[in-house]
Amino acid sequence: MSKIKTAYFCQNCGAQSPKWIGKCTSCGEWNTYVEEIIEKSKSSEKGHKQFASASKVIPKKLKDIDVNEIPRRFSGISELDRVIGGGIVPGSVTLIGGEPGIGKSTLMLQIALSKNKLNIFYVSGEESEIQIKLRADRLEKSNPECVIFAETNTSNIFHYLKDANPDILIVDSIQAMVSSSVDSSAGSVSQIRESASEFIRYAKETGVPVFLIGHITKEGALAGPKVLEHMVDTVLVFEGDSNYVYRILRSTKNRYGSTSELGIFQMQSKGLSEVTNPSELLMSYYDRSLSGVAVSATIEGIRPLMIETQALVSSAVYGTPQRSSTGFDIRRLNMLLAVLEKRCGFKIASKDVFLNIAGGIKVNDPATDLGVMCSIISSNADIPLKPNVCFAAEIGLSGELRPVTRIEQRISEAEKLGFKEIFVSKYNMKNLQSFSGKIKVIDCSKIEEVFKNLFG
Ligand code: TYD
Ligand code: MG
Repeated sequence: MSKIKTAYFCQNCGAQSPKWIGKCTSCGEWNTYVEEIIEKSKSSEKGHKQFASASKVIPKKLKDIDVNEIPRRFSGISELDRVIGGGIVPGSVTLIGGEPGIGKSTLMLQIALSKNKLNIFYVSGEESEIQIKLRADRLEKSNPECVIFAETNTSNIFHYLKDANPDILIVDSIQAMVSSSVDSSAGSVSQIRESASEFIRYAKETGVPVFLIGHITKEGALAGPKVLEHMVDTVLVFEGDSNYVYRILRSTKNRYGSTSELGIFQMQSKGLSEVTNPSELLMSYYDRSLSGVAVSATIEGIRPLMIETQALVSSAVYGTPQRSSTGFDIRRLNMLLAVLEKRCGFKIASKDVFLNIAGGIKVNDPATDLGVMCSIISSNADIPLKPNVCFAAEIGLSGELRPVTRIEQRISEAEKLGFKEIFVSKYNMKNLQSFSGKIKVIDCSKIEEVFKNLFG
């Protein structure tokens, strides 16, 4: 009997070590090494050839490669098609990650039941057939061509796939899959790597596009080996706060399109619906007469989005003032407060500051800075801002207004939503000469100028 070969794998990043170590030398996490069997059985070697088709790839000159050969297929959910670059490419493998309960399974089932009535093979390793049927009933859609297979063993899955020959294969989730060629338990690094590579091989050899659902770790990274992200063609992240209805689908890697596209969905009682006018929805609760509220013209991906920032500044009850923020980077908030203190002379070091981005949205766009600052000052003075005014500028450490990207798009979105004035950086005006709109564009170079204009 041959000796079983084992190795230790970091369950966080997938690094391998011949012996157990306490701290991963690759990702720095503690206590993540688990022993896994790496010796493959003989039968699995045969398995490698199970999809071997006659396709013989030969080297080609670049000029002879015809890109029009790729016929993209539409999933029936236009936001998703846009995010992946304009439709699903045959043989592509897409990994979609997100927190539990965010709606990954719902989104995939909606593709399966979309009006395009594609021939879908939905492998569910987490939910039973009955649970999926109940969800499909809830979505009130049906597709007679959709096959549900509640199975986790990959060789069983490939056995049925041979005859099914689907248009799209969906695997929910890759962490639940078990390949019999690896002896470690489901969800371990070597299992994830092996079963993912089997699905990828299937996709490449048959041309069937594959969607893999992946879990994420508590830090927000995709669970399993980092190599998984390198192996697949597209990585999508489904994010949002499950207490709110908005869900954002982003691509962080895309071999078939740009990663700047973004899809916005709303979770409703009948599943996810696409949001084509996000600003209007986000602005619907905007009360212009309250202090501490300001609107920023931001860009998410490549789409303009008007976002409401709310601030509350009050005297600190305890010795150390609190700073808390939802949807906005706390370090950036501290930086903005320091600029207000040092450059503009506001005494807020002894005050509690709470900041909230409405709608449960997370913003990374630096153009939100000016809006955040104005909402803080408005709350501090308890004076509401002028109605119909919005902001789009980054703040530098000396209190200067810095230019932001795609300013025309931001201004026209603000105008479309009925804003009358927008504050931008002076340095953005150079490229803006041709702009002729009804909205008044006010350009400033320093934060003090903005405050003077707003509060007199
Ligand atoms: P689910 O797709 O199961 O999430 P994941 O696969 O990412 O873990 O998400 C389900 C959540 O969405 C659940 O909390 C209930 C909610 N939901 C709705 O609000 N409406 C619906 O029509 C459906 C199907 C789910
Ligand atoms: Mg799920």
